[in-house]
Amino acid sequence: MGYDGLRGWLEEVARLGELKEIRGAHWDRELGGLVDMIYRELPVAPAVLFDEIEGYPEGYRVLFGELGSVRRLALTLGVPLRSERILDFIDDYRHRLLDMRSVPPVEVADGPVAEHVDEGPAVDLFKFPAPFHHELDGGRYFGTAHVVLTRDPEGGWVNGGTYRLQLHDRNVLGFYSTPGKHGAIHAQKYFSRGEPCPVAVAIGTDPLLWFASTMEVPTGVSEYEYAGGIRGEPLPVLRGPVTGLPVPADAEIVLEGEVDPVERRQEGPFGEWPGYYAGHSRLEPIMRVKRVLYRSRPIFTSANPARPPDDQGFHRGIVRSSMIWNALEMNGITDVRGVWCHPSGGGRMLTIVSLKQRYAGHAKQAALIASQCRAGAYLNRFTLVVDEDIDPTNTNDVLWALCSRTDPEKDIDIIRQAWASKADPLIPPGSTTYYNSRAAVLACKPFEWLERFPAVAEASPALRERLLDRFGRSIYDPSVVSHPKVASPAG
Ligand SMILES: Cc1cc2nc3c(=O)[nH]c(=O)nc-3n(C[C@H](O)[C@H](O)[C@H](O)COP(=O)(O)O)c2cc1C
Repeated sequence: MGYDGLRGWLEEVARLGELKEIRGAHWDRELGGLVDMIYRELPVAPAVLFDEIEGYPEGYRVLFGELGSVRRLALTLGVPLRSERILDFIDDYRHRLLDMRSVPPVEVADGPVAEHVDEGPAVDLFKFPAPFHHELDGGRYFGTAHVVLTRDPEGGWVNGGTYRLQLHDRNVLGFYSTPGKHGAIHAQKYFSRGEPCPVAVAIGTDPLLWFASTMEVPTGVSEYEYAGGIRGEPLPVLRGPVTGLPVPADAEIVLEGEVDPVERRQEGPFGEWPGYYAGHSRLEPIMRVKRVLYRSRPIFTSANPARPPDDQGFHRGIVRSSMIWNALEMNGITDVRGVWCHPSGGGRMLTIVSLKQRYAGHAKQAALIASQCRAGAYLNRFTLVVDEDIDPTNTNDVLWALCSRTDPEKDIDIIRQAWASKADPLIPPGSTTYYNSRAAVLACKPFEWLERFPAVAEASPALRERLLDRFGRSIYDPSVVSHPKVASPAG
């Protein structure tokens, strides 16, 4: 791995020229607003590190946009960039996953995170510059780029997930894990026994662990093992005395506490990844924080979900594409040429699968699996299958295929009552069950007359090669008058 922990990672990112520092901004709407503007207006946005935040000591920093570029993602995952093609990176990462063996964490006696310890009445979460992200949020958010650790009370395995945490009080956080996510399932199991759910939260972890906690790691596999598998060595953990949970020894901040089985507080609204404040404000569980560990000059990691493109959707679309591609193959779908979870759908709502059709029903099977496997199911809206001549990452190509190869009457199936959440802007305010419907769209040539489908009207590779030979690349330069460099084969 090319770096050592979050601080080493920041040095590498600075070396890549992808670290932007901003000093003197306020935690109240300025951090989130600046990140929103940077991510919306720059084609490749840097990681953004805020320091000298108003009201906080120098050194109490906030970092956004950790995984917002392919170079930072490659650094974090240890997957070299072999080309500029995003599809090559998706393919390389999925092969890394196929070869990966999980590596459990190693327990250590001490670590940098234990430099300072606040317990009981000394706990004061306002000590840290948790941002008020978006203008219409219901409060400050303590957890947006963090790892929430819970243990399955039945199986005993430890999950790490990124579930947002609203800052309610000096020792109370709102806890929102969508029904169906592993953290919510673990909590439900404790609650159904009338017991509180022990929870640890790690902020400012190795970006690789945060990465894992934002992705659909399979049920029963801990994000520690997954991240250790990608890294090829175990992640160091301390045993939390309050919860018994393993916590990252090199994190910047660690909280331990429990989620109450009964007490609920208003949570939200919060600007969410589909680009709206759709979840409104609802009653949600709370976490009581009993112990806080932190390093000197802590780096508080945050993410600013918002109208795409934002600072947290980039890596998720790319990596989800790899995971869906593998899920398709594991379910027997051959000849997949690429998968792309389009950033405009927050990397979830629009999935495109490129496929060489081999048999009648092949494309439909791919569409249904891609839209329902664990990596692709949550809050998908459209899953398109295109032919192998379509690059799924090329939006023009995809829209052309949709316009020219889809017969809406027969090529669109609607799947009803699928997995969604209150983040879906189409779920009416006040609903308590979160279903959505989705379309499985065949944007590919009809299999039954595949060979007789009209030929594509474009310069063939042979004609292109001949013309480039004859005129050179100057044909693309409007400032040059081009002439044949070699005689035409016709004479
Ligand atoms: C910035 C960010 C914020 C997120 N916030 C939430 C959230 O508040 N609640 C939630 O259920 N999932 C949230 N997610 C998505 C989950 O982290 C993701 O679905 C992950 O796979 C959950 O882990 P699990 O599969 O182990 O349940 C967020 C992801 C990111 C990147």
